[in-house]
Amino acid sequence: MWYSVSFTTRCERGQIVEVCWSERYARRTHRMAGSAIRELLKITEKPGFISFAGGLPAPELFPVEQVAAVGQRILTEAGRVALQYSATEGYRPLRECIAQRLRTDGVAAGIDHVLITTGSQQGLDLVGKILVDPGDVVVVESPTYLAALQAWNAYEAKFVGVASDECGMDVGGLERVVEREPKMIYCQPNFQNPSGVTLARERRVRLLEFSYHHGIPVVEDDPYHELRFEGDDLPGLMALEASRGTQEEQYDGNIISLGTFSKVLAPGLRVGWVIAAPTVIAQLTLAKQGTDLHTSTFDQMIAYELLDSGFLEGHKQSIVQTYRERRDAMLDALADCFPHDARWTRPEGGMFLWVELPESIDTGDLLLRAMEQQVAFVPGAAFHVDGTGHNTMRLNFSNSTPERIRDGISRLARELHRMA
Ligand SMILES: Cc1ncc(COP(=O)(O)O)c(C=O)c1O
Repeated sequence: MWYSVSFTTRCERGQIVEVCWSERYARRTHRMAGSAIRELLKITEKPGFISFAGGLPAPELFPVEQVAAVGQRILTEAGRVALQYSATEGYRPLRECIAQRLRTDGVAAGIDHVLITTGSQQGLDLVGKILVDPGDVVVVESPTYLAALQAWNAYEAKFVGVASDECGMDVGGLERVVEREPKMIYCQPNFQNPSGVTLARERRVRLLEFSYHHGIPVVEDDPYHELRFEGDDLPGLMALEASRGTQEEQYDGNIISLGTFSKVLAPGLRVGWVIAAPTVIAQLTLAKQGTDLHTSTFDQMIAYELLDSGFLEGHKQSIVQTYRERRDAMLDALADCFPHDARWTRPEGGMFLWVELPESIDTGDLLLRAMEQQVAFVPGAAFHVDGTGHNTMRLNFSNSTPERIRDGISRLARELHRMA
């Protein structure tokens, strides 16, 4: 009552000044553009829409019953711990499990090398928070993951793109950007988002050599490596270092490696991790304290139980089988319906493939037409930092059944032929 009287009186006396929010926002917010994909996703949620736009896993494969059973057991046996605040570094048994997997790959790692994050997206953000000053140059593959750009844009990074082909990043191209003194290099070695390509083994070796020759950190973002449909697994950068026998007793190298449970368990749990030299992990931990104190204790415990029990290993097989069928359906449909002068990648795993159309086609225009036919994809320009890629697009195959993939690709092809 007192408040409302006083407020009204002050209003009448003209003492109230409303905040002009746009003038108050920090300078960095000017660089925070909304993600084209997130905006698209809102429209494509309508029933009947065939969306190749999002990066969504197949929800019918989420292990709902197993999560419910494990969650119930955790609550019964350790409910108070699961619902309590916990250490910023993460749930100790989960960190140990991740470190153990690294040791199996020959990397000399313990729990001090592991920080649990709220999805690997938070790992990207924290890396930006501790490494990127305004104006710092970050080298990215061209095309690259949109939300990494979004995360580091907020820290006022300047991006320099290095071309990539069917063998991944053109590592030779790094020599051309070295005089710009990059703060770090961002790379996705397996089934890259958006292109689906995998970094060839010899390029991994050269990337490592480049990093050590120039003392430039490499951020290895690897959410898809467990989703391999065919071909041999390739070693991650840390494992590759280990196999060359150049390591210290404890891993202390140039690589910051990000992983996640989003693609093999469920993205809604928001559990990911960062692996790096302990000194980097300590700095990231300080940064994370100011962000969210820690990742959900309960979710970490669920992820740990499903990993430790071996459930995820078996579950992964059914995801791989389903996504392989969907990838094949998309490749077949493209071969059947798309124009002869279109080219696309043939990913050996992951969730995306990449299409390059003739120069005369603008995929932004194609999208407008496709949306009228209730089909969506992401135009490729958004994934480039240099304004190129207007004739490219990303197609997601994990989130649609083979029937819908065939239907959606033929609708897209119809629009393409009309444009041509
Ligand atoms: C390359 C890449 N990095 C990171 C992420 C973020 O994954 P999450 O935060 O769910 O672990 C994604 C999600 O699609 C991705 O494609």
